[in-house]
Amino acid sequence: MNDMPFQLVVIEGDGIGHEVIPAATQVLAATGFAFETTHAQAGWDCFERCGTALPEETVALARRGDAILFGAVSSPSHRVEGYSSPIVRLRRELDLYANLRPSQSWPVETSRPGIDLLIVRENSEGLYVKRERREGDTAIAERVITRQGSERIVRVACEWAMRRKKHLTVVHKANVLPETCGLFRQRALAVAATYPDLTVDEMLVDAMAMRLVTHPERFDVVVSTNLFGDILSDEAAGLVGGLGLAPSANIGSMRSPALFEPVHGSAPDIAGQGIANPIAAILAAAMLLDHWSQPEHAHRVRQAVRHVIQNGPHTPDLGGAATTDQVTQVMIERITNDNR
Ligand code: NAI
Ligand code: MG
Repeated sequence: MNDMPFQLVVIEGDGIGHEVIPAATQVLAATGFAFETTHAQAGWDCFERCGTALPEETVALARRGDAILFGAVSSPSHRVEGYSSPIVRLRRELDLYANLRPSQSWPVETSRPGIDLLIVRENSEGLYVKRERREGDTAIAERVITRQGSERIVRVACEWAMRRKKHLTVVHKANVLPETCGLFRQRALAVAATYPDLTVDEMLVDAMAMRLVTHPERFDVVVSTNLFGDILSDEAAGLVGGLGLAPSANIGSMRSPALFEPVHGSAPDIAGQGIANPIAAILAAAMLLDHWSQPEHAHRVRQAVRHVIQNGPHTPDLGGAATTDQVTQVMIERITNDNR
């Protein structure tokens, strides 16, 4: 341990990133956790201003930080010359290969009860390697699955399962994709077999999508490839109150700083109105505290979140009329009172 304070790199990004990330840093500060912040740019507005969605300076700052708190960026759904999703690139630059997306039931009407699951999404390969090309009227995307990539993500999933309910579900589509999903499945089952205390299931992704709706309480840790994990984690978020409550962590090797972000995007439909739910970003900050072995601070943040979800005030996505700031201030009061 040295005396340098914790260096937090803050990338608000676009849209509601500018609203929920300041809320999350305020809550983080209220816990008493000591940190210094550096702000860095990324996203669509950054691209329009300076011609790149992820300036080299941002990558350099991110590398030097202890952790990164990331909001969201707007990415167009059509090809724009010179634009490439900065979050996908940043995950790759820092080799943040594990995306942890927890979903748990909350005391709110829009949440189903009995759910406590963790989706471990492979974050560095699969269809997100962006090897796409056009050949006349045919568009082709390459999907890259490696032995090493599959083994390391499944190891992370197994370690989490060991700390939780010791149940792992491996999700794939090896019946149709025997090479890519076949390799993932084979390595996943081989790695999982080295954890004899785990109960291990496998499930085809389409069946999984249905089981997640019909029996979400049966799952503990779910591991899958990049795109499947992306889709299933939004589905899981929808079962427990929506994207306004869904956090995530991007973790790499010990040497790279981890990145924490809400699962949601820049929400252009509500951006600028001050009504975005800050809870997903605040829960991402709680994951940061956990990752930095600050369980008491993380616990206090989650208690404050639970209090607000149970008693209000609520932003419109949870059926209320409160602003981002009102929700945040109630949480800060709660945490500050706890500290006394
Ligand atoms: P989105 O997550 O931004 O919004 C989906 C819906 O959920 C919208 O109705 C939005 O208002 C609502 N919502 C999301 N977060 C909320 C919050 N904190 N509080 C209240 N309501 C919330 O996804 P969408 O609309 O598909 O994409 C919008 C933009 O965000 C796109 O440009 C997309 O590329 C980008 N995006 C970026 C991500 C990232 O930076 N990691 C992830 C997902 C999308
Ligand atoms: Mg997504």
